[in-house]
This record gives sequence, structure tokens and C-alpha cells, in this order.
Amino acid sequence: MEGAIHTTTSKMIALVTGANKGIGLEICRQLLSKGVMVILTARDEQRGLAAVANLQASGASDSDVLFHQLDVADSASVASLAGFVRDQFGKLDVLVNNAAVSGLALSPEILSSFKQLRDRLTDYANSITETYDMVEECLHINYYGTKTVTEALIPLLQSSQSPRIVNLSSFYGRLRYIPGDRIKEEMRNLDFLSEDRLNELLQCFLNDFKERKLEENGWPTRICAYKVSKVAVSAYTRILAKKYPNICINCVHPGVVKTDINWNTGELPVEEGAQGPVFVALLPDGSPSGQFYDMKEVSSFE
Ligand SMILES: NC(=O)c1ccc[n+]([C@@H]2O[C@H](COP(=O)([O-])OP(=O)(O)OC[C@H]3O[C@@H](n4cnc5c(N)ncnc54)[C@H](OP(=O)(O)O)[C@@H]3O)[C@@H](O)[C@H]2O)c1
Repeated sequence: MEGAIHTTTSKMIALVTGANKGIGLEICRQLLSKGVMVILTARDEQRGLAAVANLQASGASDSDVLFHQLDVADSASVASLAGFVRDQFGKLDVLVNNAAVSGLALSPEILSSFKQLRDRLTDYANSITETYDMVEECLHINYYGTKTVTEALIPLLQSSQSPRIVNLSSFYGRLRYIPGDRIKEEMRNLDFLSEDRLNELLQCFLNDFKERKLEENGWPTRICAYKVSKVAVSAYTRILAKKYPNICINCVHPGVVKTDINWNTGELPVEEGAQGPVFVALLPDGSPSGQFYDMKEVSSFE
């Protein structure tokens, strides 16, 4: 808004999506402890406000943590959030795209029998339900949500002296989880891969799911939407890093962390799971962009 009076602060300002619980909430906590001002966002206002109260109860000052509603799959909600940040601060220093869903359901019997994701969900193939609606929602939240939020906030990141974007990918966000060589090569080759082509590939995946042609056409057949959405997030990270060389844009696998997304079967506590994303968010100026981090280590997209 032209003429808006912005809150002035010498602190970095970070915004975290899907931050009412899990790794996102812990990312907020750790950023606050490092002197960063945090805009905690959540799709549900009550859950988001409860998370802010939780941070304040553990010592965060009222002025350092703000809440704004954000459903990453709702373009009106994204526009409202971007307007809030623009009017309040006129800039953003760090965007952490954390919100995601698993895109699948598990049978209750299996939930009571496995204790560690180490057992791998693929061992329970017959107990996994992935309907078209779940698969479509998973792409819409994990990939298109990341893209919509990023596009809305890039103008504000461009007003930062040291802008960064951290996309939460996954070990499943590596190309090895796409069986088809042709798709893998398209996702790998940045000379040809564009956001439009990525959209086309995701549309092909949805069509192949509907027509039961996943295996035939080189897509993963189990935990398929989560894997495809996260490979797309990884590829998008590289496309964006090339398009915006002045922004430090990376993706990170946080480790296998005990949270609701894996029915609390992960190995690491959220305190460890948030360390990688926070480390990547606060990399020194001039650090490489377009990388895949495995927790705090630069790793491979393969
Ligand atoms: N945990 C792991 O082992 C692991 C491993 C690799 C990668 N990751 C990634 O780490 C990130 C955090 O996951 P987590 O483990 O902390 O899972 P989590 O505890 O299930 O948290 C997911 C968060 O995303 C939010 N969310 C879902 N859909 C949303 C939407 N449309 N708009 C806004 N927020 C939405 C959820 O909100 P609600 O409470 O409203 O549902 C929740 O706050 C995800 O990107 C995940 O893929 C996790």
C-alpha cells in the first residue's frame, strides 16, 4: 500500500508456513532464539494462535512473533497474507515453505504395529490408501502451495538486503524415487525444464494415476503423490535459484522426524529436525543457491 507506515525493526523477518505444529513450529522457536522476528502462519486460526501462545509461554516476546492465517492451497488466503506482510513490514527476509501433507492414509491395524519409519511404508504397501482426491490435494498443497506462496512473496523478498527461501523437501524429493528415466532426465535438465513443463509433467502424473498407468509411464506407484510433489519442490528450487540469482534459494531434507505427517514413526525429535532448515535459512551471505541439503550438509538431487 503506497504511503503505508511500516513497522521498523533491525531484526530479520522470517515467515514460516504450516507452523502450528511439528517441524514448522520448532523452526519458529529456533529462529526466535537466534534473534529473528517470526510471522507464524497456519491454515487454522485457532491452532495458529495456540502455537503463538506456546512460543510466548516459553519466552518469546509478543512483538517478535506474529500470527497470520495462511492456507497455502487457497489463493485468496495467500493474497491476504502477502498484503499483510507488505503493509506491516514492506519486506521479507526469509521464507520457509514448510506446509505439507502425506497424500495417503494408513489402515489402523498397521498403525498399531509399526514403530519406526525405518520399517519403510513401502513394506506396508497393501495397507496404504491413495485416492485420486488425496493425490491431487497433496500436489496442490506440497507443490502448488509452495509455488503460490513464493510467487506472492518474491516482491517482498526482493526488498530485503539478504533474501532467502527454504523449501522443505524430503529424502523422497530425490530423483531416485522416480523410476522412469525420461521423467528423471526432464526433471534433472535445467537447460530445458521450466515451470510450465513441470506443470505439464504433474498433469501427466495425475492423468496416469487416474488411468492406472503409473508403473507403465515411469511414476512411483506407492506414496506416489508425496514423492512426485517433493521431487517437484526440489526441481522448482533449482528453477527459482536460476531465475533469481540475488535470492539464496535452497531445499532441505530435515531428517526422519517424529511428527504427525508420518504418524509419529520418525526417529528424530523436532528439535533436531528443525536444525537443518534453520541452518539453511541463516546461511552467510554469498552462500550457494539451488542446493539440496540433507539436514545441514549439501547433498545431491539424485
Ligand atoms: N517428519 C519427517 O520425517 C519429514 C521428512 C521429510 C520431510 N518433511 C517435511 O517437513 C515439513 C514439515 O512436516 P512435519 O513433519 O512437521 O509434519 P506435520 O507435523 O504434519 O506438519 C505439517 C504442517 O503443514 C500444515 N499444512 C498442511 N496443509 C496445509 C495448508 N493447505 N496450508 C497451510 N498449512 C498446511 C499442517 O497444518 P494442520 O495442522 O492444519 O494440518 C501442519 O502445520 C513438510 O514439508 C514435510 O514434507 C518431514
